[in-house]
Amino acid sequence: MLGLGYVGCVTAACLAHAGHRVAGVDRDAFKVESVLAGRAPFFEPGLAELVRDAVAAGRLTATVSLADALSDADVALVCVGTPSEKNGNLGLEQLRRVSCEIAELVPGRAKPLVVAVRSTVYPGTCEEVVLAAMGGSPLVRVVSNPEFLREGAAVKDFMEPSLLVVGGSDAAAVRQVASLYAGLPVEPSIVALRTAELIKYACNAFHAVKIAFANEMGALAGHLGIDGAEVMDTLCRDNALNISRAYLKPGFAFGGSCLPKDLRALVYRASRLDLKLPLLENVLAANAAHLERAIQAALDLPGERIGVFGLAFKENTDDLRESPVVLLLETLIGKGRKVRVYDPHIRLGGIYGSNERYIMNAIPHIGNLLDQTLEAMLGWADQVLVAQKPSADVLALLEASGKPLIDLVGALGRPAQAAIPA
Ligand SMILES: NC(=O)c1ccc[n+]([C@@H]2O[C@H](COP(=O)([O-])OP(=O)(O)OC[C@H]3O[C@@H](n4cnc5c(N)ncnc54)[C@H](O)[C@@H]3O)[C@@H](O)[C@H]2O)c1
Repeated sequence: MLGLGYVGCVTAACLAHAGHRVAGVDRDAFKVESVLAGRAPFFEPGLAELVRDAVAAGRLTATVSLADALSDADVALVCVGTPSEKNGNLGLEQLRRVSCEIAELVPGRAKPLVVAVRSTVYPGTCEEVVLAAMGGSPLVRVVSNPEFLREGAAVKDFMEPSLLVVGGSDAAAVRQVASLYAGLPVEPSIVALRTAELIKYACNAFHAVKIAFANEMGALAGHLGIDGAEVMDTLCRDNALNISRAYLKPGFAFGGSCLPKDLRALVYRASRLDLKLPLLENVLAANAAHLERAIQAALDLPGERIGVFGLAFKENTDDLRESPVVLLLETLIGKGRKVRVYDPHIRLGGIYGSNERYIMNAIPHIGNLLDQTLEAMLGWADQVLVAQKPSADVLALLEASGKPLIDLVGALGRPAQAAIPA
């Protein structure tokens, strides 16, 4: 265990408790001496007992010498710090240093070593910093094994993990690291190396967004004399749309007659209370930026004729109000692109009222662009923007057309964003 801080010491004590032989290394002699004396170097509920018992049982030891710790090791779990630099960038000094120290010891090794990076590192770091330092040695394989424990509940989080992620390209090394946690009640998520690195950031960003959202709703509720806790408790009772996988897949921008309107009203009313809600205030801007990426991808298409599948703001509706596809079409047409559109639920004679007014205001000659059949649109187009989730039979027709498909909604079983150049 390289680094006996919050992550390293907890991981070391818990793995020793699980029956592994663990040697902890730290350049901080105080932490090493504490562990050697059977004491946890800092407070974390349950850690003191685990360290005491594991040291007494001879399964956990500690040293300031990396050479001693690694001499008999099969796996090196890297848990060094990655603090923020002044500009917000990730500080990789500790990781660089420990990688070089491992690399210096590799030539003298008799057996292979799997280096598993538990420190939080930006995608690409395991390859560019850790693997690069190993100088191509066939003895060393590098995997990412990010840590998700929370201080204050770190031992419990280790024993009852919410997530276990191991990423790498060497299947045997990935399996070996996953097997360290074999006794825990969690199914390992085996992913690509960079995916594992990014998952850690995705989780922490998501937690931060959740907290900021709950606090903004609580602040608004407080200003309105409403019990914010009751609002959020009730929100959390919806496990279909709120606390669920719903809306958590990368895809197309949102639109329609409700989300943009209601966000605008909420933010406007809050501003009249002199209440700053930066997260909610910026959601529409984030959505607009996402639509802009899709528009740019469409503008960058090489072919002349652009077919668009989907016009309504989502599948199975004919509601065109605030459909991001309408905004996309406006730009493409404005830039002189040749466009035709097919939507299984839109027939011009069939829409009326505010729906008709919206589309006629945005694209008055929409009637000239709408195809009545998918086949007609596919026959005409050089390439097709998939701007709405197709049904299974439509998807089959789209794929059988042989036309390049640009997936804006994540409907084709491959990552939606891969279709949109950065
Ligand atoms: N603290 C958390 O709750 C938590 C949770 C999940 C992930 N993480 C991530 O895990 C990593 C470690 O976090 P932490 O809070 O345990 O950090 P920490 O600062 O508490 O511990 C890092 C330890 O590494 C030691 N170290 C640094 N370079 C070394 C070297 N060359 N040789 C030996 N020891 C060395 C330091 O002396 C220190 O004791 C960070 O990337 C962090 O972002 C932290």
